[in-house]
Amino acid sequence: PQRVFSGVQPTGNLHLGNYLGAIKRFVELQDRFGCIYCVVDLHAITVWQDPAELRRSIREVAAAFLAAGVDGEKHIVFNQSQVSGHAELAWIFNCVARLGWLNRMTQFKEKAGKDRENASVGLYAYPNLMAADILLYRATHVPVGEDQKQHLELARDIAQKFNNDFAASIAANGLDEKFFPLPEPLIAGPATRVMSLRDGSKKMSKSEPSDASRINLTDDADQIASKIRKAKTDPLPLPETVEGLKDRPEADNLVGIYAALADSDAAAVLAQYGGAQFSAFKQALVDLTVDKLAPINAEMKRLVADPGHIDRVLGHGAERADAIAETTMAAVKDIVGLIRRA
Ligand code: TYM
Repeated sequence: PQRVFSGVQPTGNLHLGNYLGAIKRFVELQDRFGCIYCVVDLHAITVWQDPAELRRSIREVAAAFLAAGVDGEKHIVFNQSQVSGHAELAWIFNCVARLGWLNRMTQFKEKAGKDRENASVGLYAYPNLMAADILLYRATHVPVGEDQKQHLELARDIAQKFNNDFAASIAANGLDEKFFPLPEPLIAGPATRVMSLRDGSKKMSKSEPSDASRINLTDDADQIASKIRKAKTDPLPLPETVEGLKDRPEADNLVGIYAALADSDAAAVLAQYGGAQFSAFKQALVDLTVDKLAPINAEMKRLVADPGHIDRVLGHGAERADAIAETTMAAVKDIVGLIRRA
């Protein structure tokens, strides 16, 4: 059976990159797959989080999922720490993954920065927890932005090594030799890597100090308009063809954003706006962005005003997730040779 899993960290400032690269795609996959969408709070605490702010942020990400159109009844929406299997399976994977594999992870190097000695052990082991998230549900497809590609490759390596290392035990337990499927990343469309509005060489990010670099899902129409109008561009008009976007990162980025919001592609956008000045294109982009984000923004506001409701949705999701997780964990314990409570 095919199953989608993905997660978003509750670390504040959900932005257009998170929406176009991930959340919007979560919604689109709901007709074709059974989907599990997770607010990954255990990932968030790999760097310091203020407890009250973390709670607020967990509810805000859940609200963003629902406001964007994720169906928490047909599919599963929950926060990671409510299902203990994530942390349990991550420990098993800490014992499967090799130091050399984790040493290659570029995101750890970026996030730990120069003071690596002072990074948390959790930040280093982060990719193992991410593999556990996915494989706890034996998910086959994982919609993410481009920046998660390396972590997905690691998850596949872990799945494969577990299946190999325990092949005899998997067979002895009468289980499928591919006990863990090798999860496939779904990284597609015109906005897999949305860039900063201030610098076309940097990705749009929650942690970038300049708020003008990103469009937050909580921004109102005026903020969106002002950020897009001030977005960095080059002096040329828009090119007529996709080839003309080469070496023009800011133009490429704005066209990609437009295409993703319009459910279109860069070629079609340029067929319409090729030759136009940025001022005209930016106005069209403001209108489109406000048109698409305003209803999500309004619904998020409505939802976060009732934290009790969000907590009930998350609790209901966690119960259903846990039922799947427990089955996997029971099999994993049998496979590894751990004795379960009778
Ligand atoms: P996170 O919380 O940083 O980002 C959530 C999702 O948004 C995507 N994304 C982007 N897409 C396009 N352009 C951007 N500028 C941009 N910035 C972020 C991310 O690729 C991601 O899909 N490790 C993950 C969370 C995670 C996870 C998982 C994902 C934990 N466990 C299991 C999938 C499966 C992360 O930090 O995403």
